[in-house]
Amino acid sequence: MISTAAILEFSSPAQQLFQFIQDDNMEKLEEIIEKYPRAFPLWIGPFQAFFYICDPDYAKTVLNRTDPKSQYVQKFLSPLIGKGLVALDGPKWFQHRRLLTPAFHFNILKAYIEVMTHSVKTMLDKWEKVCSTRDTTVEVYKHINLMSLDIIMKCTFSKETNCQTNSTHDPYEKAIFEVSRIVFQRLYSFLHHSDIIFKLSPQGHRFQKLNQVLYQYTDTIIQDRKKSLQTGVKQDNTQKRKYQDFLDIVLSAKDENGSSFSDTDVHSEVSTFLLAGHDSVAASISWVLYCLAQNPEHQERCREEVRGILGDGSSITWDQLGEMSYTTMCINETFRLIPAVPSISRDLSKPLTFPDGCTLPAGITVVLSIWGLHHNPAVWKNPKVFDPLRFSKENSDQRHPYAYLPFSAGSRNCIGQQFAMIELKVAIALILLHFRVTPDPTRPLTFSNHFILKPKNGMYLHLEKLPEC
Ligand code: HEM
Repeated sequence: MISTAAILEFSSPAQQLFQFIQDDNMEKLEEIIEKYPRAFPLWIGPFQAFFYICDPDYAKTVLNRTDPKSQYVQKFLSPLIGKGLVALDGPKWFQHRRLLTPAFHFNILKAYIEVMTHSVKTMLDKWEKVCSTRDTTVEVYKHINLMSLDIIMKCTFSKETNCQTNSTHDPYEKAIFEVSRIVFQRLYSFLHHSDIIFKLSPQGHRFQKLNQVLYQYTDTIIQDRKKSLQTGVKQDNTQKRKYQDFLDIVLSAKDENGSSFSDTDVHSEVSTFLLAGHDSVAASISWVLYCLAQNPEHQERCREEVRGILGDGSSITWDQLGEMSYTTMCINETFRLIPAVPSISRDLSKPLTFPDGCTLPAGITVVLSIWGLHHNPAVWKNPKVFDPLRFSKENSDQRHPYAYLPFSAGSRNCIGQQFAMIELKVAIALILLHFRVTPDPTRPLTFSNHFILKPKNGMYLHLEKLPEC
């Protein structure tokens, strides 16, 4: 058992950790990990401790158990994503996971490549207009976010929203950004753990307002589909599809007693997949572009690879995506350096013993810091350096299987990771075919670390339009 004395001794990083949380200062976290490469605790008020881990053996121990998700995280996030797959536990989670897995079948994912290509080209057309007269600096994150929203709406809900060109979708995106910040700050503010105090606070008021925006957005998706099913009038592109989309699966799902998902379950799953399916992918695409802008030699090598495989990129196939080995290594290295999901957490339902003999009591919240694991100098040589060759086959074979976990691992791993990888490859390949990206030194980048690691004040990159091949 880790003794109170040990926890007190460990408590020295608490100050630094609060700075990391309050200022989104990821470097502070790195300093702590250099000192404590396995684990360290953080007290939130007098009763609640979060036990951070960043060691592959520790991660393996936690991910091979079936402890529930952290009750605080789930409780505070539930107005945002309800009790969908991310938040569920136990038999209900198992049932939903089994029912929803077919939505990510290989044949369905293959059909998405064309949809994704179309959405990326819409974004590139916008960039071309911005750059038509001269090379220029563009805040790319907002464009990428809307592009990713467009893709998830079309792929999982078969809904044509034109959100990339129609600014009525901006309030939803802005609400997500702000709500995530409020929830994250609530998590680390002991007083705001109380529902009454939080509801009466200015953040609590704001939270409720923003929540209505999010609820309404999801509800419209569900009601539109229900209407079209009732009237037989196809309001979306359901008639063109040869496959069941995610919404078809959720609306027709039956449990072992033959009962359909309740309205609350449907709402939870739709808001979960809407958020999980676009927010983290948009952040990841932006981080890959950022890393390639910082490392022009790797950008050039990816572009050569993509040109050799895709030509002018007029159409993209599944096999071609599989051939992009260098670009995939750059994507993987970006996931390591800047993981879009920087941490995940579990509440221990029973005591836990790590392989080195350290034990934790039941009830402790364990936070697996994916950022910490990926930046751990005891695991990675020169962890701050962008080096895609870490992911070559020879170099990967040597690695601990739990050293690199951008999509987590085990039974609760990311259900959408294949979807995400396809979207990332299509987006990065097409962007590199049409533009060279370089950093804008006048606009240094800062992190916003609120469940998803995003650029805090946007991401400004210099875009240079390339001649057509
Ligand atoms: C680069 C993009 C993505 C990253 C980095 C990512 C990362 C993760 C991680 C780390 C988890 C584990 C969370 C935990 O244990 O608390 C997770 C779970 C999940 N992800 Fe993703 N994800 C991405 C894209 C997607 C996409 C595109 C979808 C859906 C279309 C999706 C849906 C989910 C769901 C539903 C879960 C919960 C799975 C379960 O508990 O059974 N994610 N993701």
